[in-house]
Amino acid sequence: MITLCHHSDIEEGRAKGFDVNGKQLFVVKKDDQLHLYYNYCPHLGTPLEWLEDQFMDPDGVFIQCATHGALFVVEDGLCIQGPCKGKSLKAIPFEMGNGFMMVEEAHIATLGRI
Ligand code: FES
Repeated sequence: MITLCHHSDIEEGRAKGFDVNGKQLFVVKKDDQLHLYYNYCPHLGTPLEWLEDQFMDPDGVFIQCATHGALFVVEDGLCIQGPCKGKSLKAIPFEMGNGFMMVEEAHIATLGRI
């Protein structure tokens, strides 16, 4: 298990990027819940952010790809607007323990094949 962050490390409506074993992930918090995604836009396979930890739209409501502006629902990663509408970000399973987000290395190792 790899510990990524504590629940309190991420502000509401904000996100944070992580590099785990060479794979890029990001954590986003909405309604006090954390969500973990592979940082890989289903449009062109690029990372979503241009600026460090900037994964959200200006209102902090949707995840936004900086390249062509696709918008994704925080809770399930579904693209609801943009060139990859109908496709989804890849959610990564995780566990919470004592407020810390932890992820199995096996879930990271399989990334890159989407
Ligand atoms: S690469 Fe993300 S919307 Fe085009």
